[in-house]
Amino acid sequence: MKEKLIMSGMRPTGRLHLGHLAGVVDNWLKFQNEGKCYFEVADWHSLTDRTDNSELQRNITEMTTDWLALGINPQKSTLFVQSLVPEHAELYTLFSMITPITWATHCPVFKDKTAGEDAIKNPSLGLLNYPVLQAADIALYKGTHVPVGEDQAPHVELSRKIIRRFNSLYGNIFPEPETILTKTPRIMGFDGRKMSKSLDNHLAPHHTQEELILRTGKMITDPQKIRKNDPGRPEICSVYAVQDVYNLNKRIVENECKSGARGCVACKKELAGVLYDMFEQFREKRAFYEARPQEVREILYEGSKTAREVAKKTIEEVRDAMKVKF
Ligand code: TRP
Ligand code: SF4
Repeated sequence: MKEKLIMSGMRPTGRLHLGHLAGVVDNWLKFQNEGKCYFEVADWHSLTDRTDNSELQRNITEMTTDWLALGINPQKSTLFVQSLVPEHAELYTLFSMITPITWATHCPVFKDKTAGEDAIKNPSLGLLNYPVLQAADIALYKGTHVPVGEDQAPHVELSRKIIRRFNSLYGNIFPEPETILTKTPRIMGFDGRKMSKSLDNHLAPHHTQEELILRTGKMITDPQKIRKNDPGRPEICSVYAVQDVYNLNKRIVENECKSGARGCVACKKELAGVLYDMFEQFREKRAFYEARPQEVREILYEGSKTAREVAKKTIEEVRDAMKVKF
């Protein structure tokens, strides 16, 4: 079997929360032991819907520090910054030549972002081309497996299409990447909407124990379970959704909930405790890297150098294949 080449990335939006972990990073950690991994700080992608970049640099450091604290290991994986590897721009340009405009305008993410009440006004070409840039990211490293959150699945789908079109036009140089989702690609925040920092409905590894208790306390449970002894339905409870991923005693939680042997207040407190304990090592490592921002920078610079070597080789192949060479 051919070796797995894992390629993925995230827009630097700051510190990570449980939605990122359960949806993406848990899979990154798993894949680190299964093949070569490239993890990208997608800073250009974060420019597609805003022009104020004043927080960008800080967000890159914050996100990368969280990656490292969670166990993403620069000895095993290549961590790099998209904008430090300009070959991304070249392949993006070439891919844009073979991508029909309608593929981009029909992308469900683009449609969502540009329709409805909080639609982005006057969307940029960059936003429209978002999946073309993503296809270039994946193809440059010849990614075979792309572990992402559910929201990114349409982009990887489009990336596949673009890559397939390239291969059929110019020769088979890229593998078709496969989308990899976790068992829980969409974790809900405590208000029942998708977990996100901007909605401030998140649980995060950096939260204090008190904060976790407060936040889990607000989580939506089975509305039919009113009193402690009422039997509950874990399958529709957002507290259980998180217990299911992270509590080793989840069978007990499930059974006690169903039989009415546990109340929601205690259940939420238990969850807060499970999460707080689980992030013990995170807190230690986070403190370590926070005290060494220069080391974090160096990891990204070194990784970007390594990534660039690979990217340059791929670009040579692409120029040959497309006969864009003089
Ligand atoms: N668009 C992805 C996100 O916002 C980040 C990303 C950029 C990515 N390039 C990628 C993910 C390539 C997977 C593969 O999360
Ligand atoms: Fe959810 Fe726990 Fe309440 Fe059951 S006991 S409904 S799993 S919070």
